[in-house]
Amino acid sequence: MYFMASRISATVWGATGFTGGELLRILAGHPNMELRGAVSRSSAGSPLGAAHLHLRHVFPETVFISAEQGFEAEADLAFLALPHRSSAEVAKKLIERGVKVVDLSADFRLKSASDYLRWYEVEHPCPELLGEAVYGLPELHREAMRDARLISGVGCNAASAVFALLPVAREGLVEDVRIECRVGSSESGLHGGDGSGHPLRSRALRVVTPFVHRHMAELTQELGVPEDMMTMGVTAVELVRGIQCAAHVRLKETLREADIWKLYRAAWIRERFVSLTPAKPAHFRIPDPRFVLGSNRVMTGFVLAADGRRLLAASALDNLMKGAAGSAVQSANIMMGLDENAGLDMMPVYPA
Ligand SMILES: NC(=O)c1ccc[n+]([C@@H]2O[C@H](COP(=O)([O-])OP(=O)(O)OC[C@H]3O[C@@H](n4cnc5c(N)ncnc54)[C@H](OP(=O)(O)O)[C@@H]3O)[C@@H](O)[C@H]2O)c1
Repeated sequence: MYFMASRISATVWGATGFTGGELLRILAGHPNMELRGAVSRSSAGSPLGAAHLHLRHVFPETVFISAEQGFEAEADLAFLALPHRSSAEVAKKLIERGVKVVDLSADFRLKSASDYLRWYEVEHPCPELLGEAVYGLPELHREAMRDARLISGVGCNAASAVFALLPVAREGLVEDVRIECRVGSSESGLHGGDGSGHPLRSRALRVVTPFVHRHMAELTQELGVPEDMMTMGVTAVELVRGIQCAAHVRLKETLREADIWKLYRAAWIRERFVSLTPAKPAHFRIPDPRFVLGSNRVMTGFVLAADGRRLLAASALDNLMKGAAGSAVQSANIMMGLDENAGLDMMPVYPA
């Protein structure tokens, strides 16, 4: 049961960025949340519509506010769409003021401060909060979210791998796995890095990390698959949004296709935002992110090789939605006692 609260007021931090913009887009249509402030380091005082022209008609009078104004805003909830290492201290200050926080960065995804140091190469500024932060996938941690005051975001590649692998991983069936994520350019954020500009990124087919990716730490934590049984590669492809995850699993036991269907159905049948690809036609078995773009949906599918031991487990999602802002709002809905699905029923845009 959820109660129909009066409207929840929310601030969005890092509001000029890609996931910040996506949070604003969701809030624009959310029946129970309203924007209390769009916080920006670089653009305080400028109109929101100047950074997000597609939203100017919804927020015609709204200007970005400074961090100082954000702390004073007395919102119920804050979404932090800030880079790793910039988020944790903002989260701490907000929590001390009684504001509930969903932090999309990696700062609260890992339970262990030493793992954070290893993967993000910096000491965690507030390790005392790591224990209470709930990993931000409702499909995994719905109950813990109800009483939380701090929820992390998810790595978008990690989320795609969770949806592909959970049905077999939670049964302890993974002997080893090779995860391949094919990703769109928005994954690098508005400012990206070297090689993110259009002339270099467009039409690229670029292997970014062949074997080891930071998001493996989340997968070991959330799926229980040890790091030495996993490799993870990320390849930049010709997409703006979207991730296709293809996880090549060697199973511990020989299984039949019907067994795998059973596991995938059991894992996802009750999840509103997860669907399974149809058995036919064959070219739809491995999901294409084009079928979920702009929505909070994720598709999963699999193909079992004739030997019954090699499984291609796959998923597709929109990195800015189910891989970031969509899951963040879904988690916030639960934490704030709202209908979990509120504001998230937008349909995919197809073809896009
Ligand atoms: N892009 C994705 O697909 C994706 C998926 C999952 C999770 N995430 C995570 O979500 C967070 C935001 O990602 P994004 O893609 O939206 O990045 P982005 O487009 O680069 O936006 C981040 C925003 O944060 C602010 N900012 C930049 N540097 C800052 C600093 N040093 N201190 C404080 N604020 C700073 C900037 O906004 P202002 O100038 O307006 O303050 C910037 O526009 C990251 O932690 C990322 O890992 C991203």
